Amino acid sequence: MKIRHLYIVIFVLAAGAVLWMISGNIYIIHKRNMIHFTQSSQSTHFKGADKFVIGVKTGTDVVAERVPIQILTFLQHALNVYYLSDDNSYIGHHFMTGIVKEEFDAKKLLRSDKKISRVEDTVGWDVDRHKYFPGFKFLYEKHPDKDWYVIIDDDTYVFWDELVAFLNSNKERYDPSKDLYLGLARVVKGCSNITSFEHSPNFAYGGTGVILSRPAVEKLLLKLNDCIVRYDKCFGDASVAFCLKFEVGGILLDYSIQSYMHQDMLGPLTSWPQNACRFPITLHHLKPRELQELYERDPLNVRSRRSQNATKLNYEQLFKMYNNEKEEVFEEFDTPLSGSYIKWECPSVDECKEGCRRDAVCASWSYDRYEKWCYQKKTMVKFQPKVNFTSGHIKEHYKCNY
Ligand SMILES: *[C@@H]1O[C@H](CO)[C@@H](O)[C@H](O)[C@H]1NC(C)=O
Ligand SMILES: *[C@@H]1O[C@H](CO)[C@@H](O)[C@H](O)[C@H]1NC(C)=O
Ligand SMILES: *[C@@H]1O[C@H](CO)[C@@H](O)[C@H](O)[C@H]1NC(C)=O
Repeated sequence: MKIRHLYIVIFVLAAGAVLWMISGNIYIIHKRNMIHFTQSSQSTHFKGADKFVIGVKTGTDVVAERVPIQILTFLQHALNVYYLSDDNSYIGHHFMTGIVKEEFDAKKLLRSDKKISRVEDTVGWDVDRHKYFPGFKFLYEKHPDKDWYVIIDDDTYVFWDELVAFLNSNKERYDPSKDLYLGLARVVKGCSNITSFEHSPNFAYGGTGVILSRPAVEKLLLKLNDCIVRYDKCFGDASVAFCLKFEVGGILLDYSIQSYMHQDMLGPLTSWPQNACRFPITLHHLKPRELQELYERDPLNVRSRRSQNATKLNYEQLFKMYNNEKEEVFEEFDTPLSGSYIKWECPSVDECKEGCRRDAVCASWSYDRYEKWCYQKKTMVKFQPKVNFTSGHIKEHYKCNY
C-alpha cells in the first residue's frame, strides 16, 4: 500500500514536473513568437506620424499594379493613410475611395475637350486633375486636427524620417500653424489666364508630393467651389497653386524642399543637391521593384535596420543606383541655376567635358558652342533649355566627401 502510494506520489510529481516544463516551454515558445511577431509585422510608425494625413492618388486602371508595393513598404510606417481613386475598390483590405465619383460628377467635370497626355497616359490621369481639391477636402474631413496634409502619387516613395527631419530643420520657417504650401516647383501655361511660363505661379509638382499645413488647407477649402470651376482645365496639382495664389490670396509655394524631391532619377530636369551626403525625401516615377530597392535602404524597415551593413541612402548612392548607364549629354541645355567656378575658352564639347573630368570637384559642365566657352560647375542643379549650349555631368565626381 505504502509503496504504491509512493509510486503514485512520484508519478504525480513527475507528471506535474513534465507538464510544468512543457507549459513553460510553450510559454517561452509563445513569447518568442510574440517577440518575432512584434518585430516583423507590427511596423514602426515614423516619429510624428500622428501629425500627418496622407492621401495616395491613384486610378482604377493602375491601382492593383502600383499601390500594393507602397502598402508593403513605406506606407506601413505612416498613420492616417487614404487612397484617392476614381472609383471605390479594394486592395487587400485597404479601401480605395472613389473620390471623384463620390464628391463630384466626374463626367460633368470632364466636359473639357482638351485631352491631356503625359508619360503614363492612363484613364486615371484623365480625372486625375479633379482629385486634388476633393482629395484635400476628404483628408481634412477625416482628420481636421492634424498639422500636415500630403498628397502623393501611386508611384512615389517617401522617406518619412527625412521629411520630418527637413520640417524640423527650421521650425520657424516650417511652422505648421502658418499658411504653408511645400513641394517641387513647376510652371504651367495654357491654363486659366496664363499664356506664358513667366506668368505662371510655381506649383508643387504632384508626383513628388503636395504638402499643405492645416491653415492652408482650411483656406483652400473655403474657396473650393470657386476654384474647382475656375481651374477646371488646369492640371490638378497646378490648380492648387492657382487657387492659393489668386482665390485664397497670397499663399505661394515654398520650394526650399525641392532639391530633395526627384521627379525622375536622371534627366535634364532633375536637380541634384550640391551636397551628395544629403538624403532624399521623396522620389517619383518609380517601378514597384525600385520601391522595394528604396525600402531596403529605409531605416524604418526593421529588416534593413537589423542587417549589419545597412546605411541610409544618400544622394551619391542614389545617383549610382539609378545612373549606371553611360553619362548623358544634353543638347541645347545649360545649367544656368548653378554658378560656374571656372570658365575657359575651349574649342569643343569633348574638350570641355574632359576638362571637367580632370578636376575632381567638377560635377557638371556646359559648353557654349557659339562663343566657345566651357563652364565647369560643382553642382548638378537643374538643366535648362538653351540654344547653342551642350551640357552634361561627370558621374563619378558626384560624391559625398571626396
Ligand atoms: C490672372 O487672373 C488673376 C485673377 O484671377 C490675376 O490676379 C492675375 O494677375 C492674372 N494673370 C495674368 C497673367 O493675367
Ligand atoms: C552587405 O552588403 C553586401 C554588398 O553590398 C551584400 O552583398 C550583403 O548581402 C550585405 N549584407 C547584409 C547582411 O545585408
Ligand atoms: C546660335 O549659333 C548660331 C550659329 O551656329 C548663331 O547664328 C546664333 O546667333 C546663335 N544663337 C544664340 C542665341 O546665341
